[in-house]
Amino acid sequence: MQAYQKRVDLVENYLERVSLDKDILNYYSGRTVLVTGGAGAIGSNLIIALSSLVGNDGKVIVLDNLSAIDSQEPFNVTPLANIMFVQGDIREDKDLKRAFKEEPSIVFHLAAFFANQNSIDYSQESAEVDVIGQIKLLEYSTISQVERFVYASSGCAIYGSYPELPLKEDFISMHLTTPYQVNKMTGEMYCNFYYHHFGLPIVNCRFFNSYGPGEAPGQYRNVIPNFIYWAMNGRSLPITGTGEETRDFTYVLDLVQGLVKAAYTRKAVGENFNIAACKEVMIRDLAEMVNKATNNQAPIYFKERRKWDTKPRLLASIEKAKELIDYKPFVDFEEGFKTNIEWFQDYWEQIVEASDFPPGMSSAVRGASSICGVK
Ligand SMILES: NC(=O)c1ccc[n+]([C@@H]2O[C@H](COP(=O)([O-])OP(=O)(O)OC[C@H]3O[C@@H](n4cnc5c(N)ncnc54)[C@H](O)[C@@H]3O)[C@@H](O)[C@H]2O)c1
Repeated sequence: MQAYQKRVDLVENYLERVSLDKDILNYYSGRTVLVTGGAGAIGSNLIIALSSLVGNDGKVIVLDNLSAIDSQEPFNVTPLANIMFVQGDIREDKDLKRAFKEEPSIVFHLAAFFANQNSIDYSQESAEVDVIGQIKLLEYSTISQVERFVYASSGCAIYGSYPELPLKEDFISMHLTTPYQVNKMTGEMYCNFYYHHFGLPIVNCRFFNSYGPGEAPGQYRNVIPNFIYWAMNGRSLPITGTGEETRDFTYVLDLVQGLVKAAYTRKAVGENFNIAACKEVMIRDLAEMVNKATNNQAPIYFKERRKWDTKPRLLASIEKAKELIDYKPFVDFEEGFKTNIEWFQDYWEQIVEASDFPPGMSSAVRGASSICGVK
């Protein structure tokens, strides 16, 4: 069996488990939808789900410049008949014109300059993509009169420092600690502006730390893919902090469920809400789980917490998403983690090829990557 067929089956089985309402299935059937960032960690799962939902009479257009991986091979874009891949940039009119020529009625905007440390190292490009690129996309979506514009916002980013847990949507802080956080917040504000001024039907989904099949490791990537990658190379896992820190790790297909329901639900328009697992996982426990699953004997070691990382714990309230869009997380951490490890095993060669660890670039993982000595 082709490795991608396993990914398709995983998504199909998940959709069966969620058992979407008939009205949702009818809503998607035969549509043309656009996913920016569709070759990325979350987008690559969303496009499989949408491919199934729009069916043979519909089309899923992926607009992605492949900047998140160290490869020109879109290995994450499943070659399904109704998926059309446009390698292009949301800042470029010619690429936007190519995508909008297909007349999508729903836009899922997931493309982003990922993430915190990257935005510190390259703050101007971060704003060019996450602010200027997004404004362009909002313009095209308004002119094309799309029925929904769903924005992948970030709960981990926009709540700023020292909020009360669980994080509720009405918490606002002006104390954001990286350009990425500022830009994700600005992205929501622009969505709200286009909603109020031009009547563009936007929905702001605030994701919490995603994990699962589809995220290649790299110097600017999340802790789970990097831990798995380093452990599979037999290297020590670096913990930046005490290890007591927690994150609300959310299985990628639960995020996909949130996106699918958010675009469908009329009363979600103009709203913002968290999409999360609503469970905390401690980083030290995570490192131990990864070492056990990969049979890695190398000891864990500790580094200083990164200066911008001011959130020792993250836990989201998902009450609003439950009420508004009937969101419900289906996959617990143990199950999701297992599928993540399997994806690494199935795609190991492509992952090694695509992983982006140029030596000595990022101040966040410089120590780790040089100690690990792997690409
Ligand atoms: N992964 C998380 O834990 C998390 C948490 C909160 C919010 N989010 C948000 O969800 C979205 C998806 O996250 P992800 O983890 O899949 O990220 P990702 O980096 O894996 O995917 C983003 C994709 O966008 C593409 N891209 C970047 N710049 C582009 C440009 N100028 N034009 C076209 N494509 C471009 C990249 O090549 C990549 O494939 C992002 O907007 C991110 O801010 C993610």
